[in-house]
Amino acid sequence: MTIKVAIDGPAGAGKSTIAKHVAKQLGIPYVDTGAIYRSLAWQAINANTPLDDENSLVQLAESLDILFIPDGDSQRVIVRGIDITHAIREPEISNKVSLVATYPQVRKELLTIQTTLSQSALGVVMDGRDIGTSILPDADVKIFLTATVEVRARRRFEEMKRQGFDVELEKVLLELEARDQADKQRKASPLRMADDAVALDTSLLTIEEASAMVAALCEVRLRTRRYNKFI
Ligand code: DC
Repeated sequence: MTIKVAIDGPAGAGKSTIAKHVAKQLGIPYVDTGAIYRSLAWQAINANTPLDDENSLVQLAESLDILFIPDGDSQRVIVRGIDITHAIREPEISNKVSLVATYPQVRKELLTIQTTLSQSALGVVMDGRDIGTSILPDADVKIFLTATVEVRARRRFEEMKRQGFDVELEKVLLELEARDQADKQRKASPLRMADDAVALDTSLLTIEEASAMVAALCEVRLRTRRYNKFI
């Protein structure tokens, strides 16, 4: 039975890790929509396209040739045959990607890619900022993950250190706050909790605990559907 799961929330709330765990447990694909915005930002920077030139960004988005290749518990991001999995996590991309995500026409182009990627027969777990509100408004389960800004900054800092980036906690926190503001305040599909989403604060939870809660909600939804079909 197919199930669509939308996971939204600010940076560092645990979205990608939890989404990956839940997708694995349900045996369905996972789509990291932030990686799509990051790939576009990466491509624009590499093509020397100014990030305030909406028309050129739309053209790049139209021809964005992106592939997600499963790699163990993770996935690799390939754009035009180049593996940019690591490059799109660079602080430069993290700091500039919110600007790319503000343009309505860019979002419209990337919506097409996201819609295509969401159409697996098995269902999908997607994480981002507007999945429950715009990309999968009919999702079976919608989760809005949050955590205090200190916890989120600490997680992002540890993650970046693991990935080999030279970062400072204070700087990570300030950049994260700036990105949150940009994502919440933009006009086109801002970061917002869908009316029918379940809010989950992960500040005091381990990834395993939070993933188990989300997976349990999905299981309840699947059982309810089976039951309703049966009666
Ligand atoms: O989840 P992330 O940090 O990799 O996302 C990178 C940026 O992409 C984030 O600042 C906001 C944008 N984004 C978005 O606007 N809509 C999405 N569905 C996913 C990401």
